[in-house]
Amino acid sequence: MIANHIKPHHQGLVHLHNMQNSLQPLCLSLETLHRVKGRMLEAMERGLSRRTHSHATVRMLPAFIRSTPDGTGKGQAVGAQGWGPSLYPPQAPPPGPVLWSALELRCQCPPIPAGLWLGEGSHLFAFLATCLWEFLDGLHMPQTDFELGFSFPFSCRQTRLDQVSASPGPAGGGAGGRGGWLGSLGRYHIKVVAVVNDTTGTMMSCDANAGPCEVGLVVDAGTNSCFMAEARHVEVVEESEGRMCVVTEWGSFGDDGALNDVLSPYDHQLDQASLNPGRHRFEKMISGLYLGEIVRHILTELFSRRTAPALLTKGSVQIQDILEITDEQFGLATARRVLRALGLEASDQDCFNMQQVCKAVCIRAAGLCAAGLAAIVSHMCRSRELSRLKTSVAVDGVVFRAHAKFSQTLQQLVKQLAPECDVTLVQAEGSSKGIGMVTAVASRLAAQRLQVNQTLGLLQLLPASLGTVQALLRQEMELGLKKETNARSSVRMLPTYICATPDGSERGDFLALDLGGTNFRVLLVKVGSWERGGVQIVSEVYSIPPHVAQGPGSQLFDHIVECIADFQTKQGMMGQTLPLGFTFSFPCQQTSLDQGILLSWTKGFNASGCVGQDVVKLLREAVKRKNHFALDVVAIVNDTVGTMMSCGYDDPSCEVGLIVGTGTNACYMEELRNVGTLAGEEGRMCINMEWGAFGDNGCLDAFFTPFDRQVDEASLNPGRQRFEKLISGMYLGEIVRRILLELTDKGCLFRGHPSPKLQTPDIFQTKFLSSIESDGLALRQVCAILEELGLHVSCEDSVLVREVCQVVARRAAQLCGAAVAAVVEKIRENRGLEQLAVTVGVDGTLYKLHPHFAQQVQETVRQLAPCCSVTFLQSEDGSGKGAALIAAVACRVARHQRA
Ligand code: BG6
Ligand code: GLC
Repeated sequence: MIANHIKPHHQGLVHLHNMQNSLQPLCLSLETLHRVKGRMLEAMERGLSRRTHSHATVRMLPAFIRSTPDGTGKGQAVGAQGWGPSLYPPQAPPPGPVLWSALELRCQCPPIPAGLWLGEGSHLFAFLATCLWEFLDGLHMPQTDFELGFSFPFSCRQTRLDQVSASPGPAGGGAGGRGGWLGSLGRYHIKVVAVVNDTTGTMMSCDANAGPCEVGLVVDAGTNSCFMAEARHVEVVEESEGRMCVVTEWGSFGDDGALNDVLSPYDHQLDQASLNPGRHRFEKMISGLYLGEIVRHILTELFSRRTAPALLTKGSVQIQDILEITDEQFGLATARRVLRALGLEASDQDCFNMQQVCKAVCIRAAGLCAAGLAAIVSHMCRSRELSRLKTSVAVDGVVFRAHAKFSQTLQQLVKQLAPECDVTLVQAEGSSKGIGMVTAVASRLAAQRLQVNQTLGLLQLLPASLGTVQALLRQEMELGLKKETNARSSVRMLPTYICATPDGSERGDFLALDLGGTNFRVLLVKVGSWERGGVQIVSEVYSIPPHVAQGPGSQLFDHIVECIADFQTKQGMMGQTLPLGFTFSFPCQQTSLDQGILLSWTKGFNASGCVGQDVVKLLREAVKRKNHFALDVVAIVNDTVGTMMSCGYDDPSCEVGLIVGTGTNACYMEELRNVGTLAGEEGRMCINMEWGAFGDNGCLDAFFTPFDRQVDEASLNPGRQRFEKLISGMYLGEIVRRILLELTDKGCLFRGHPSPKLQTPDIFQTKFLSSIESDGLALRQVCAILEELGLHVSCEDSVLVREVCQVVARRAAQLCGAAVAAVVEKIRENRGLEQLAVTVGVDGTLYKLHPHFAQQVQETVRQLAPCCSVTFLQSEDGSGKGAALIAAVACRVARHQRA
């Protein structure tokens, strides 16, 4: 119970019994306050929801402030305050323009003539403009350009941080206004960067170094609050990322009857006699403009036996009197003075009773305020999915400031009403500093946005640029296919000696190796009839440690043979010699199906003594070194080819193989007559494009950003695989990391301080890029992913990191799409078709696991190859299956040739 201890003294004007009866309606139990909190939460939900926002009593107006100060706000900004009937005691600075400069405040205070508040809006704003001009002139500063933050304590519908339209507020203001009121200000150029509510200014005035302050509360002539809500819950704005400050406008809470069981007869009397009956019911129980009236109505009832005309006059008890009367030391004397002024000769007991009345009214106000505040912090805690929330609440307004008991009661009750939250009330220094902070934050964010846009703009590709990439690849393909120009082309267009896709008649048991992707696998592939289950696979994954991938070639091939031996032992196959298909995902010049000269290592491999050698021979030599088993290698296959064959087994129109994983590449069925590097005119052959090297001859130079160049320079193979380095999983994380370093350097991230972790090459892997972009991932989870990497991020940081990942991955997908478009268009033209229907078999972790990559590739292909209807079929079993199928075909052909 928020009880009032009424001690009998001696008999005065009021009987004790009357006193208790009169104050009873003001006593709110903790249970009642919990109920009020619950209803406030419901009202807040209605205000936040798009469906109910327009008729909600608690309006929950977005303020377009997305972050609280982080202590880096620099520069100068002017804050102009234009507010209504002021409750400031004479010694406090009255409203007026304030220059904010690195937290230094200077005030100049022209009084606003009362008439302006109720008259034509343009007059008020012309007056404010003149004040501002005089204020700036008085500073004698050489500077002529200023950014302005404007505190406007009325209910405003904002569409941006610098644009509002106002409706008349309860605190007495009648003049509507807009951000465009400045017009010309002599020699000054003023840019309005923020229009803020006083609650927002209060919240933003808090010391950034004392931990997060994400709630602002004003208990002045009126009452209102604001807090940093999760943007995705503020349904009336488009943003779903990060946070957005919401001004609750809670003064109107209860206008729909939600407080009917809490309202006392005095509240009804006050409301009936007010300018706006039925409205602002919550405010009318709490704020300074009304507390005096509540006290007056109680006194009228208590002193009904005495006639005192002044007591019947509206406004005869002022908030200042009440606040002074509640003072333990001097309160009784003030009570006597006030009662006397009301025409009542009062006894000590009367003065004491008067003090109790004032305390009861103030404590009820604090209790209701606490219920509202508890609703806000509980909402924040729940919507952030936290078990505990810790925040400061910046509070301002004369009621809070002048009445110590008010803040104590507020603090205690919030603790009881929202036990899951650690709330510290902080007395704000007035909203002027906050306006400066908002202005500074707004201007910091605007400057940062510019930097971010400039940086990320380098990676954004217009449709015309994608068309250029498509055309360039087509050109390189033509060069690569012709014998005379092949050496000039950056894409090798390697013949594979595969002339047909599977026809379903393949049978037998085969061994397969799959080397070059994330995993090295050994597989046993049983190819049977459809009725007997088609293809069945048993496989084992082995690791290739970097020192083996980059050590002597003999060591790499010995390791591979050991893995095969281990697999055969596990499968009980030792001694059997099955035909083997070898998926070797590196560029190889083939002269037959079972021979491949390694042209260069790519991705993370760099084993010595292999380039220029036949890979099948290297494998056979390693087997010989082991001396205890035999291998029958019948085919060496690139992973793109394996994927195309594997998908072709299920879909005969699969004539393109695409890999977007650690590396990227494609193969497709080309007309033999176009393959100038081979004899023969009839039929088709699968060509391994090795498009990862596209651009190695400089033809893509215009598309490389400084980040791409840095990644290339730091790679194992500088100057090579330039297209792959824009697209594939092995490099995207590095591009992201380099951009993050640059943005940190520019002060847009991590408050300008790069963590040592961010300096670590390769900390971002493909799986990180995929998980951070997952749909519906709460920002909290994004933060958790980044924390796991050892990066300590703010909410804003994680939004920006996600944006960087999106831009980098989108560019990769679009470039890949442009390349696929070039391939399918070539197939269509080869065949002289108006319209081509073709399937692309796809594999690779980036394509398969990234939430948007596949869709962005497909969309680009649709745009750039409108005459091709392209189906993307994901390979389920990896290219090992394709290699086995190729081995099966080879065995069948060999059998036929022998027969
Ligand atoms: C797999 C193939 O399915 O995809 C591999 O079997 C291939 O041979 C790989 O290299 C590509 O994906 P990643 O992401 O593992 O490089
Ligand atoms: C690299 C290899 C290429 C392979 C691709 C996908 O680009 O050079 O042969 O197909 O990665 O794994």
